Amino acid sequence: MLRRQKNCRHETHPLENEVPREGHYLAALAQCFLVNMRAIMKQENPKRILLGITGGIAAYKAAELVRLLAKQGYAVQVAMTQAATQFITPTTLQALSGHPVLTDQWDAAANGMAHIESGRAADAIVIAPATADFLAKLAHGLADDLLSTLCLARDCPLLVAPAMNTQMWANPATQRNLAQLAADGVSILGPASGELACGETGMGRMLEATELAAGIVAHFQPKLLAGVNLLMTAGPTYEAIDAVRGITNRSSGKMGYAIAQAAREMGATVTLVSGPVALTAPVGVERIPVETALEMADAVNRRAARADIFIGVAAVADYRPATPNEQKIKKSDAPLSVALIPNPDILASIASLPNAPFCVGFAAESEKLHEYAQAKRRAKRLPLLAANLAQTAIGADDNELILFDDDGEHLLPRADKLTLARVLLAHLARLYRKGRLA
Ligand code: CTP
Repeated sequence: MLRRQKNCRHETHPLENEVPREGHYLAALAQCFLVNMRAIMKQENPKRILLGITGGIAAYKAAELVRLLAKQGYAVQVAMTQAATQFITPTTLQALSGHPVLTDQWDAAANGMAHIESGRAADAIVIAPATADFLAKLAHGLADDLLSTLCLARDCPLLVAPAMNTQMWANPATQRNLAQLAADGVSILGPASGELACGETGMGRMLEATELAAGIVAHFQPKLLAGVNLLMTAGPTYEAIDAVRGITNRSSGKMGYAIAQAAREMGATVTLVSGPVALTAPVGVERIPVETALEMADAVNRRAARADIFIGVAAVADYRPATPNEQKIKKSDAPLSVALIPNPDILASIASLPNAPFCVGFAAESEKLHEYAQAKRRAKRLPLLAANLAQTAIGADDNELILFDDDGEHLLPRADKLTLARVLLAHLARLYRKGRLA
């Protein structure tokens, strides 16, 4: 029997009755997944970021970046150039990061060695905003203040988020410096094109804090899906009965969106065909919004040939009204029947293509999870299927899954959906590579 987790909220494990009790091998597999999950769960492996802020208007966005990183479990130490302190105060950043801000190369508390000490403690240095001047310093190995010295003395990855006026960005000197930094292995986040503080419009706007946070988190993920085209569905579908009413379900899209985000972080090119949800698309993911099952099927079919992997996470309506009313149906005392006809099974049809991508299905069941999930995997001929109990999964921020594949079953105990998505994708990546080698 699977061992219950210490932090499990349930008195009895809800999946326990669904798993054969005689399978000792199952407990071993579950333990193996637990080890992977612990490694993946950010709380148990906090990353330390040294955030360097240089003197640009975009410095105000650094405050939000500190907040977002701290929220995701990162320990952030801020270091600022003197110019940066003209744009945003160290007090603000100290309050948000919970640590005194480094501004002085000759800080007595650090024994005059702040540049070495802080660099040693960091898992990555992020410069946001990085001005044209600071990029030039980095490219040429200058070390004439605390932050540039920290960068030169580092033994960890360096990420920079350029922010400057369009002309400065386009200047050949800046482009030369960026090319040199890229050649030196520095990761360059952005910039974006848009309205700039100087009133001009063009390249040079620093990425938003959410985009930077996503880039930093992605930096730490193993690139298990680099070069892979991943197509997926998420969310519910909506099947109109008349002009104002329809059939849908309670899927929030959260699991699918977490998978899209995790896959992007692992290096995949992700196309997310999404039913109507109240979520923003993860950074770097191409979202194709659809409403009905037929629209979803069409969007998927048109992209399937280019996909290496297809994951069906959407809760697709199995039926749609045969003849939806264009106008609102008026109420009367007579009973009303709505004739329903079946929708195509998107996952089954993609899995049966001659050159089918590696297909992964989801099964949301309200009972007999083990039996129904196995049957679904067989019927749709899927190498991998993730099953969950609909009652505990729909709309929730966390979930628990059982993965079914040719080797058997693997329990992923309750965790937030992004953690589950990372474990699921790490497993999928292993099976996918194994399949390609076979
Ligand atoms: N699926 C699909 N197209 C459909 C129905 C389901 O692509 N018309 C996919 C889902 O995205 C999921 C898997 O098939 O990956 C299983 O979906 P689920 O709703 O659990 O099962 P169904 O196949 O619809 O069967 P049932 O409703 O009888 O449980």
